[in-house]
Amino acid sequence: MYMKLLEERRSIRKYKNQEIEGEKIQSLLQAALLSPTSRGSQPWQFVQVDDKDLLQELSEAKAGGSSFLAGATLAIVIAADPEISDVWVEDCSIAATNIQMEAVDLDLGSCWIQIRKRQRQDGSDSEEYVKDVLNLPNKLRVDSIIALGYPDEEKEKYDLDDLPYNKIHYNRYGHEVPE
Ligand SMILES: Cc1cc2nc3c(=O)[nH]c(=O)nc-3n(C[C@H](O)[C@H](O)[C@H](O)COP(=O)(O)O)c2cc1C
Repeated sequence: MYMKLLEERRSIRKYKNQEIEGEKIQSLLQAALLSPTSRGSQPWQFVQVDDKDLLQELSEAKAGGSSFLAGATLAIVIAADPEISDVWVEDCSIAATNIQMEAVDLDLGSCWIQIRKRQRQDGSDSEEYVKDVLNLPNKLRVDSIIALGYPDEEKEKYDLDDLPYNKIHYNRYGHEVPE
């Protein structure tokens, strides 16, 4: 069942002009909050954004790879307090993935937009820009934004036969797994 969702998940960057039901948004956020964190420290904070002007502003957060956010129905901005956990990046990444996997289950399309370590067109820092747009406390770091909406593009699902099995090693690196 979960495997089927993993095969179906693709990055969707075109969205229909169709609202996402409140219960679905609730499920996406619950998926985030159900994520495991190092020492159970839950260092993350999530900002749910559906305001069109804010989505437009956030779409300008990076030099490339974020413009499609202007056409998204919803964004979930994932930030964290690094003073609470030194592995906040891992914690945020798991939450991001859980949101994306719940999105597939809800027939929604989603795409990860990397913010940490990225710059805007003018060379300024993407994280600082997002913090400014959303009034985030200065101590928070911004990991990523998940763009969401009903898909307006079709992508092929993954084929288990085509996975890069050469990346799997047996006991020691470089040894193939016996058939
Ligand atoms: C850590 C991470 C950062 C990503 N950053 C972006 C991004 O900033 N913009 C974007 O359009 N896609 C981004 N993606 C989506 C990837 O480009 C995409 O997952 C990859 O090409 C594989 O395609 P698939 O998601 O359809 O399987 C990111 C994905 C990950 C996991």
